[in-house]
Amino acid sequence: MFVNLTMLVKSGIFLFESNKFQASLQNRTTSTPNKNSGNEHMRLNKPPSFVRIFVFIVFLSLAVCFINTFSPSQAQDDDENRFCFNCHSNREMQRTLLSGDSVSLFVDEEEFQSSVHGQAGLTCTVCHTNIEGYPHPEFTATTYREFSLELYPICTECHTDQIRAIQGNSHMVALEGGNPEAAVCTDCHGNHGIQPPGDNRVAIPQTCRKCHSEIYDLYRSSVHGAALIGDGNPDVPSCTDCHGVHQLKGPSTTSFHLFSPEICATCHRDNALMDKYDLRSDTYDTYVSDFHGVSVVLFQQTYPDQETDKPVCIDCHGVHHILRTDDPESTVIKENLLETCRRCHPNATTNFPDSWLGHYWPSPEHAPIVFIVKTFYAILIPLIIGGMLIFVISDYYRMMVERWRNRRNAK
Ligand code: HEC
Ligand code: HEC
Ligand code: HEC
Ligand code: HEC
Ligand code: HEC
Ligand code: HEC
Ligand code: HEC
Ligand code: HEC
Ligand code: HEC
Repeated sequence: MFVNLTMLVKSGIFLFESNKFQASLQNRTTSTPNKNSGNEHMRLNKPPSFVRIFVFIVFLSLAVCFINTFSPSQAQDDDENRFCFNCHSNREMQRTLLSGDSVSLFVDEEEFQSSVHGQAGLTCTVCHTNIEGYPHPEFTATTYREFSLELYPICTECHTDQIRAIQGNSHMVALEGGNPEAAVCTDCHGNHGIQPPGDNRVAIPQTCRKCHSEIYDLYRSSVHGAALIGDGNPDVPSCTDCHGVHQLKGPSTTSFHLFSPEICATCHRDNALMDKYDLRSDTYDTYVSDFHGVSVVLFQQTYPDQETDKPVCIDCHGVHHILRTDDPESTVIKENLLETCRRCHPNATTNFPDSWLGHYWPSPEHAPIVFIVKTFYAILIPLIIGGMLIFVISDYYRMMVERWRNRRNAK
């Protein structure tokens, strides 16, 4: 409805201005461009104002009838867009910006028509609000980036959920902090050929790669990235599964670091998913039950924003470069494990890693001593508590019986 109304008004204005547009075009082709002469020409061509108003009202009523019967907004969109495509479908068209960048002004008609916005019947001027005909208003941006930053806020007029979501995210903070390279809507979605993001997860790291190419390269060779980029496997995390999409939270913050095991847990605790890859699904549970995990959980609850020296999953496994645990390069393979522990336990010796259970519950094969001690306590503690309980109950019983007897004897 919003788009229809805009269209209607725009078409009216367009009718108004087609004079102006032709005048200025003529002007451009016949003489050297000169703003003043263009204006003069327009003034000369103006019909009396009551005639114009009458024509405009007739046009509006006709347009409204038309909308109700034939849903012609598509036709009008096409007309208005056709006007722009008259020039902008020329592949050779470009302009040089003040910075010296050369920008192609070609807009692919087919790509636009099949985009979400083409399909939804948006006209060019819904986004290019300052352009109504030709010549266009003066172009002030000196670089293409400046142009993008001027235009992207238009996206937020219709997509209010997303603008709310991006407020305060890492990119917006960087942008407001003066880094013009931080991603805005059009960097990730494009401009004229926007398609529904849908399920194309492989496309996501490619999008981030434009600016985060080093991380992309690490990720591509990780167990997760290789599966996604190489095999299109949907089970592994893409960048946005860990970071979020529009609500990108600063990963450099301590709270994110402390929270990160929960991200891994969404998949690594899922029995069905882990079975599929013959992986254990108790890596998270074993982690939180050992001394490192216990401390982190307590720490997170008490001081969520404070730095900690206690390891989370990524301290042992790496972040973007997580490898299979039997990969010779893996940070957790036996040959490299000591080095990993030494980052925080600098005096650790060769046997040090054995002092830790890994992701295993104590059992006769893994850590038999711990297993025996645990089993011993598992039996001893119920025995002691049980014995005490029996003692207390029998003592109470005897006391009650004696009291009852005394009372009977007294009678
Ligand atoms: C008569 C040919 C012509 C028509 C029709 C035309 N343009 Fe342009 N457009 C140009 C030229 C030439 C430029 C290069 C800059 C300039 O001359 O203003 C341009 C530049 C642009 C730019 C780049 C920014 C700028 O201002 O330079 C945008 C955006 C644009 N046109 C959008 C549109 C839209 C939207 C329409 C339809 C409402 C349209 N154009 C119709 C010729 C045209
Ligand atoms: C959904 C909003 C939207 C619609 C609809 C739209 N544009 Fe754009 N257009 C943009 C944005 C945003 C930019 C800025 C470039 C960027 O950041 O990628 C742009 C840039 C341009 C440019 C500069 C060259 C370029 O490609 O970057 C031209 C020319 C242009 N648009 C013409 C058109 C024409 C013609 C139409 C209609 C067929 C149209 N636009 C429809 C959003 C839109
Ligand atoms: C005039 C309103 C309007 C403007 C401005 C606009 N859009 Fe849209 N957008 C729509 C409509 C309508 C749809 C199709 C219906 C839907 O899926 O929400 C859509 C769909 C989308 C989709 C696909 C959504 C999905 O779930 O499939 C994306 C992505 C998108 N727009 C991004 C953008 C970006 C980026 C910009 C700025 C360059 C922009 N939009 C500007 C109205 C608009
Ligand atoms: C850093 C890249 C990035 C930026 C910046 C970005 N998006 Fe998105 N957007 C995505 C991805 C990736 C998806 C797919 C979501 C998914 O798979 O869950 C998406 C999804 C969408 C959708 C579909 C509905 C939804 O929320 O899933 C719309 C509409 C949309 N974005 C609009 C916008 C608008 C408007 C802006 C600017 C205010 C914007 N996006 C900024 C990457 C981005
Ligand atoms: C147009 C370039 C661009 C694109 C595309 C882009 N980013 Fe960014 N990103 C930046 C810039 C610039 C920063 C701020 C500088 C920095 O901290 O590295 C940033 C910061 C971040 C941060 C915060 C870093 C920190 O240390 O706090 C994360 C996380 C991030 N981006 C993830 C993504 C993801 C995920 C995608 C893809 C969906 C993406 N980015 C796409 C340019 C981009
Ligand atoms: C398995 C989850 C996961 C995936 C997948 C992932 N990240 Fe990260 N990323 C993290 C975590 C966790 C951190 C924080 C590291 C820390 O706390 O030291 C981080 C940090 C970052 C940072 C800021 C710190 C830095 O190293 O510069 C950026 C930017 C970033 N990631 C971008 C990306 C991009 C782009 C992708 C996709 C190519 C991606 N991430 C994939 C979990 C992930
Ligand atoms: C979206 C789900 C998902 C998330 C989130 C996730 N992973 Fe994974 N991870 C997988 C899947 C699926 C595999 C198996 C991939 C394969 O074998 O091709 C895997 C494989 C691994 C492996 C290799 C196991 C081996 O030896 O083969 C390690 C280590 C790993 N992930 C650690 C992590 C860590 C640490 C995090 C959090 C920072 C994390 N993962 C987040 C799904 C996920
Ligand atoms: C103190 C270091 C350390 C921490 C912290 C750690 N891991 Fe591990 N992880 C290892 C080592 C060493 C191995 C290989 C030997 C083993 O299986 O115990 C391993 C193995 C794995 C495997 C492969 C399991 C399999 O079935 O082959 C996965 C998946 C994994 N870890 C995920 C995680 C997740 C998720 C977290 C956080 C919740 C985490 N790890 C925390 C050191 C660690
Ligand atoms: C990111 C730093 C970090 C890494 C990496 C790390 N640890 Fe720890 N570890 C700690 C901290 C801090 C403590 C003290 C825990 C506490 O205060 O509850 C600790 C405690 C321990 C303890 C308990 C006994 C003691 O010394 O307090 C053992 C055993 C241990 N770590 C083994 C390992 C092993 C084995 C590895 C390598 C697989 C490893 N750690 C990797 C930080 C780390």
